[in-house]
Amino acid sequence: MADDRHGADLSPRPQLRIAALLAVLTLLFMPLQAYYLEPAALLKVAPFYVFAAALGGLLLVLTYTALGVRYAQELSPLFALGLTAEMLLYLYLEPYATPTYPAIVANLMTCLLMGTTVLFAWPTWRAILSGSLMVAGFAVVAAILTSRGLPTAPFGLAIGSLVAGVVTVAASARVMDRFRASLAQRQDELAAFSTRLMSVHEEERRRVARELHEELGSSLTAILSYLWLFDRHRPEDVETLQSRAADARRLVAKTIAEMRELSQDLRPSALDDYGLLPSLDSQVKTFTERHGIVATFSAAGVPERLPADIETAVYRITQEALTNVVRHAGARHVRVVLAAVGDEIELEVEDDGVGIVTKPKNGDAGTGLIGIRERVRALGGSVALTSGSGAHLRVRLPVAGKRAMRA
Ligand SMILES: Nc1ncnc2c1ncn2[C@@H]1O[C@H](COP(=O)(O)OP(=O)(O)OP(=O)(O)O)[C@@H](O)[C@H]1O
Ligand SMILES: [Mg+2]
Repeated sequence: MADDRHGADLSPRPQLRIAALLAVLTLLFMPLQAYYLEPAALLKVAPFYVFAAALGGLLLVLTYTALGVRYAQELSPLFALGLTAEMLLYLYLEPYATPTYPAIVANLMTCLLMGTTVLFAWPTWRAILSGSLMVAGFAVVAAILTSRGLPTAPFGLAIGSLVAGVVTVAASARVMDRFRASLAQRQDELAAFSTRLMSVHEEERRRVARELHEELGSSLTAILSYLWLFDRHRPEDVETLQSRAADARRLVAKTIAEMRELSQDLRPSALDDYGLLPSLDSQVKTFTERHGIVATFSAAGVPERLPADIETAVYRITQEALTNVVRHAGARHVRVVLAAVGDEIELEVEDDGVGIVTKPKNGDAGTGLIGIRERVRALGGSVALTSGSGAHLRVRLPVAGKRAMRA
């Protein structure tokens, strides 16, 4: 499964096509060798020619079948080592072709290793294993040829450059491995986030529907009954009339308060009407009243109005950070600070609770912090969450239109 993450998400068909093209080109190139080879040497080449033909054919077939798509990763070493064997055979048969021939073959082998590693997204171990086999094969051929009297120096140099090539490829494969791992982690986070987002959306609708039905619905029904009573049983004396009217007024006031609370939760109107600072101030005050945790809010150098997406982001991030303080921190104080730093807005939420405790990874990991990161990433900002005596969240958001807003 782990290997699946490494590239199986992308169809390997294009890679297979390139590999097949390479094998076929080598195949077409081989008859040219006949001009340079002795008849006896030609005979020796024949089995490899058949092998290369089979390899090219196999790759072409695999390119267009499900088998190739499924086993592309496993088959790619066969392809790379098959072509390496062919190159070593040329080296064995034509050591006198040019004095630099061994170096050319070594370079070709490095290119082949690099190309296959990138094309098939090889993990580091596979690149190292294939590279080592290439070096070993090259060393064997070099040993045979030098034992027959060929000068050692060109082979020594060529092996040196091949080893350097293999090391470079292995290092590159390691870097790509890391990129892939972080990409896979991000993909997982995003998948968890979008699943959670959908369920939160649904939960929110359910909550609103319940509140509309249970709270507002029942209050309105009670008001309706009062009106009905007024209509049907008109009280004789003014006092009863007044008392019933006062009851009805109280119910209307309660309903209005409930409605206001609900609409505040959904989208704080202060954010649209008065801007970020008053909204944050009131959010922090309500937080202290509701949870008994002393929260303070201060702002420095922040313009009255900021772009709407930044205002919403800062408001929601503060909301999530404060919710986390209630749920996880066990804190007594929390400090919310908003400041303008150069062309950026910096939000800090710092509590004096237990700090972030690393939990073992399981399926129930929360998505609040991922949500914060996603919001911030979308706006081109940065997030840092540190933990000492308490948790400290620091978010920076670039404000492109700040000057325009100030003007
Ligand atoms: N202020 C804090 N103090 C201590 N731990 C915290 C604090 N904020 C976050 N954490 C830790 O980080 C974890 C991840 O937080 P996150 O907001 O992503 O998820 P959650 O709050 O568990 O769930 P939800 O998806 O509902 O937000 C928490 O489970 C908690 O362990
Ligand atoms: Mg949370």
